[in-house]
Amino acid sequence: MDKIAFTAKQNELIHVFKNNKLKRLNVLEGSVRSGKTWISLILWAIWVASRPKDYLYMMCAKSLQTLKRNCLFPLQELIGKKNFKFSLSKKEGVLFGRKIMLEGANDQRSEGKIRGITLGGAYCDELTLFPKDFFIMLLSRLSAPGAKLIATTNPDVPTHWLMTEYLKNEKLSDDLFRMFFHIDDNTTLPADYVQSLKKEYTGVYYDRFILGKWVVANGAIYKVFSDSPTVFFAKDIPHFDYINIGLDFGGNGSQHALVCSGTTHDMRKLYALKTERIPAADMTPQTLYKRVYDFCVEIKDKYGTISALYADSAEQTLIAGLRQALRPIGVIVKNSLKREINDRIRATTMLMGGGRFFMLSGECQTLIDAFQGAVWDDKIIGKEVRLDDGTSDIDTLDAFEYSFERYIPQLIRSDK
Ligand SMILES: Nc1ncnc2c1ncn2[C@@H]1O[C@H](COP(=O)(O)OP(=O)(O)OP(=O)(O)O)[C@@H](O)[C@H]1O
Ligand SMILES: [Mg+2]
Repeated sequence: MDKIAFTAKQNELIHVFKNNKLKRLNVLEGSVRSGKTWISLILWAIWVASRPKDYLYMMCAKSLQTLKRNCLFPLQELIGKKNFKFSLSKKEGVLFGRKIMLEGANDQRSEGKIRGITLGGAYCDELTLFPKDFFIMLLSRLSAPGAKLIATTNPDVPTHWLMTEYLKNEKLSDDLFRMFFHIDDNTTLPADYVQSLKKEYTGVYYDRFILGKWVVANGAIYKVFSDSPTVFFAKDIPHFDYINIGLDFGGNGSQHALVCSGTTHDMRKLYALKTERIPAADMTPQTLYKRVYDFCVEIKDKYGTISALYADSAEQTLIAGLRQALRPIGVIVKNSLKREINDRIRATTMLMGGGRFFMLSGECQTLIDAFQGAVWDDKIIGKEVRLDDGTSDIDTLDAFEYSFERYIPQLIRSDK
């Protein structure tokens, strides 16, 4: 570890450790990329090395895969494979001769597995993403003398269980050490990278992931768009490697929605190319298939091949009919993936903030309206939910998201 240089903030933490000021629960919180996980791994390693060899220790993250990617590989890189070995299939590692259990907090069986064991220490990455029951169980097992928890997290809503029941809990204050990390504290990052991150996070995501605040989401969801829509109007059209269509089926009283989008081959840019709403009233499946067919023909004429049409997976009968109807023009119909809505919203706003989302303004009026009308539901406490009470056009947003959600990991390259 001799080549390693800490940031000033990270030094502060190591100072706290050296002066024996860590508590039973130690939580590093704050912005993305602020250096929390990096220093928490070093802290964990040197702390574990100073603890009894016959205790059992545990490292966990939301899933074993995220644990491996965010913590186990980086830990190995930081302290060397000689000092930390692990096997994901055995869910076990050895850190400076101490046995480390590895768990994914979202795995239903994990909670049962830790019931009854005695832990000398636990490490948790991205704690707000853990189920509360898993965390309660974990704390109850931290019963060896001098046992500690070292955790990192980004902020969430102020009513998140971690905030209300632990971080803000006065009864625990003697047992709790919190340290805040701001993105600007990570002086190891190139300035232009930090600049572009700050642009990508907008609205509530800026407050949380850049400023590190525990805040609720309220008001307009796509504020970055509504503030200046024309910024997103495409001036030219690049070559697209994938052209996809999203289709959301309307129910009673609502409308069907179609959105076509294109992505560029380096997965950096997303373009909305054409949108349409179709009133559901008086529509038979056949007339709907015909409208979708015409939409597809127009897209094919203009852009060539359509990679796939992703349709709302809740409507399997309509999908089966549509498959037949579109077969003659070679359009493949697939089920929408239905990623978490907030992951889709985050991806859209990150693309907007990063200057990577564009639209053909003359062809996408329903999407323009949908972006401008979408608001967070202020009646639901504890998590953010896009208001879906018929006052805004959620169908078009769904269809838009179905058209590109498959590419979100490549477009965003982020775990958050
Ligand atoms: N002292 C350091 N020396 C070199 N690189 C560092 C140092 N501290 C942090 N980094 C690097 O900075 C990047 C961000 O750090 P880290 O992953 O710890 O941030 P984080 O606060 O956990 O962010 P997130 O909330 O996004 O998980 C990583 O690539 C990490 O390797
Ligand atoms: Mg981290």
